[in-house]
Amino acid sequence: MGTEEQGSQKTAGKVAPATGKLGAMVVGLGAVSTTMIAGVEAVRRGLAKPIGSLTQMGTIRLGKRTDNSSPLIKDFVPLADLNDIVFTGWDIFEDNVYEAAAHAKVLDEKMLAQLKPYLETIKPLPAVFDQYYVKRLNGTHVKKGKNKRDLADQVIADIRAFKKTVDRVVVIWAASTEIFIEQTAVHQSIEAFEKGLDNNDIAIAPSQIYAYAALSEGVPFANGAPGLTVDFPAMVELSKRNAAPICGKDFKTGQTLMKTVLAPALKARMLGVSGWFSTNILGNRDGEVLDDPQSFKTKEESKLGSLDYIFQPELYHKIRINYYPPRGDDKEAWDNIDIFGWLGYPMQIKVNFLCRDSILAAPIALDLVLFLDLAKRTPSLRSIGIQEWLSFYLKSPQSAPGLYPEHDLFIQSMKLKNTLRHIMGSDLITHLGLEYYD
Ligand SMILES: NC(=O)c1ccc[n+]([C@@H]2O[C@H](COP(=O)([O-])OP(=O)(O)OC[C@H]3O[C@@H](n4cnc5c(N)ncnc54)[C@H](O)[C@@H]3O)[C@@H](O)[C@H]2O)c1
Repeated sequence: MGTEEQGSQKTAGKVAPATGKLGAMVVGLGAVSTTMIAGVEAVRRGLAKPIGSLTQMGTIRLGKRTDNSSPLIKDFVPLADLNDIVFTGWDIFEDNVYEAAAHAKVLDEKMLAQLKPYLETIKPLPAVFDQYYVKRLNGTHVKKGKNKRDLADQVIADIRAFKKTVDRVVVIWAASTEIFIEQTAVHQSIEAFEKGLDNNDIAIAPSQIYAYAALSEGVPFANGAPGLTVDFPAMVELSKRNAAPICGKDFKTGQTLMKTVLAPALKARMLGVSGWFSTNILGNRDGEVLDDPQSFKTKEESKLGSLDYIFQPELYHKIRINYYPPRGDDKEAWDNIDIFGWLGYPMQIKVNFLCRDSILAAPIALDLVLFLDLAKRTPSLRSIGIQEWLSFYLKSPQSAPGLYPEHDLFIQSMKLKNTLRHIMGSDLITHLGLEYYD
């Protein structure tokens, strides 16, 4: 009997099956979200392949290398089928998903025209928004309420109404980056946070209101942006209390993805790194929002973390993001890495990544939705709060208090796959391999 069969037999009935419809509620129907939604529909119709999505294309080795068992991840763990995902969302603009995707100019007109009848049917719900938290935007499709508690209640009502039409719900934040906010007393417990909602505490940004609403409803929440949203004690407590898994923050798409591949390699080979200079140009709406120093600060903090943990903190590490409209979503990133080798002799590495921001982010957003839904159906994951095994997808991964985050992409990948093996009762893979030489 193969390991795969043994695994599923051992845990039969443990992870609940993905029956029925999965409702994905997306906060912010901008470039990333519309590229994800249009992409899922294109894949459903057989128009394109879900490249970059581990849940759709990735495999997982089970048992020994000699067992020849590497099923698709989606055949090994019970994930929702793409055909069972129903999308909705919130935005501060009234554009439907077709209009928003056309505005974002990520997907070509031919592809969008084919998907138009479906994309037009997804219309945003009015958002919770306050320009104080995103200076460069001014939306009109916005909820009104007497205080932040009232706004949270309105989001809860949206979630409840959607829940009536589907079997399970996940919420993902893919809206604009808010200004840099530090934790205050209001973030330290559920009670303090709820009082803060009543008192319109300034340290409670709209993203936190969505997260609070989702977690209050027992709905998993992923944070794709770098803001202070679910990474504070009140949210972790609420997540555990209501068995609503959380993860964040900031999709790890381009430059940071490369960093968390290159830096562990240099460290593993004991090569020295004296400086790392990263710069970017991008011209989409995200770039415009990040042009505001307060939103940039949030992004900068998130991007800086990866190297601080992989290397010694005294490394000279600089990050620049420049808004440059002609490029649209086609970001270009440059990295100059000053390294040194044997006896201190200096060398340099240059990386020039011409990427498409939302093409890289869309499969991550999809995978996070599917994996959080899986976590919610998994008894050993649903009540632990932070899903650290999803760090693989995130620039600034949340981890338990007192635990430094793991940034190395390959450790993150191993952690993710071992978590899947673990929940399915399959043997973990340590890569020791001595048994082949007995
Ligand atoms: N594309 C990437 O590679 C990438 C990587 C990491 C993180 N991110 C983050 O993902 C987020 C989305 O990126 P994008 O390129 O799609 O940006 P975008 O500007 O195209 O889309 C953001 C959308 O959010 C909406 N919005 C803003 N505030 C809102 C609110 N309070 N409620 C509801 N909607 C709101 C905006 O109107 C806009 O439609 C950004 O925070 C970005 O920093 C993107």
